[in-house]
Amino acid sequence: MPLGVFDSGIGGLTVVQALRRAFPKRDILYVGDTARVPYGNKSAETVEGYSREIIAFLKGKGVDRIVAACNTASALAVKKIGNSGGVPLHGMIESGVRAALRAGGEDPVGVIGTSATIASGAYQIALAQGRPGLRVVAQATPLFVPLVEEGWLEHEVTEKVAREYLQPFIGERVGVCVLACTHYPLLKGVIQRVLGEGVRLVDSSEACAESLRESESGIVEKGELRIYLTDEPGPFLGRVESFLGKGAVGSIERIHLTQG
Ligand code: DGL
Repeated sequence: MPLGVFDSGIGGLTVVQALRRAFPKRDILYVGDTARVPYGNKSAETVEGYSREIIAFLKGKGVDRIVAACNTASALAVKKIGNSGGVPLHGMIESGVRAALRAGGEDPVGVIGTSATIASGAYQIALAQGRPGLRVVAQATPLFVPLVEEGWLEHEVTEKVAREYLQPFIGERVGVCVLACTHYPLLKGVIQRVLGEGVRLVDSSEACAESLRESESGIVEKGELRIYLTDEPGPFLGRVESFLGKGAVGSIERIHLTQG
């Protein structure tokens, strides 16, 4: 049975890439809610409603697990929705937090994400539960998303924005920085340069794939990636496809989740 993955848009294909490396033989059905992206500035109620619709669609396609690749959906909705009808639902937070705690010693941990992810406090709470007394510095970095979609991965403007956003992390001497958004793995170069080589970056997509691999074994024959989008993909898909590698995408289909 295929693995279901969803995101607010195209960015979650970074998580798919990590999942495909971890499960090369798994079929993956991906829903990108390109009609309603971004989620990162929406309310918990709205993001939960969208997530429920996508989960119902994926369950209808017969997936045996669902990964919410979107950190915003993970922070705002996954816990509340939980596993449904025997299909486990995995968010990005637990695995990202576990990887951050493994990577860091006593140094403060930094978390960057969308405004909604950071405002939800989900990472901050999970990190504090995982290691009581840990200093957590959380910073919303919403401009990173459009910069990545524009393809400005190494642009001087992106570096300036990163210096502005990440200044508190340098001041607080964070030892680990959690990249808590689908788009941020594409900015690893800039973020590492700004924070310095000594800071360990936790890629939440890799952490998620790693933790799922720990929970699965001995799976299946052929791995195909089928993508369902609720609107036009836009130019960002081309950029992400070149990141995923030639021939990675099996098919792309337009879907409608709601009436009107
Ligand atoms: N996919 C979202 C996330 O990981 C970023 C884009 C958006 O705001 O929808 O939080």
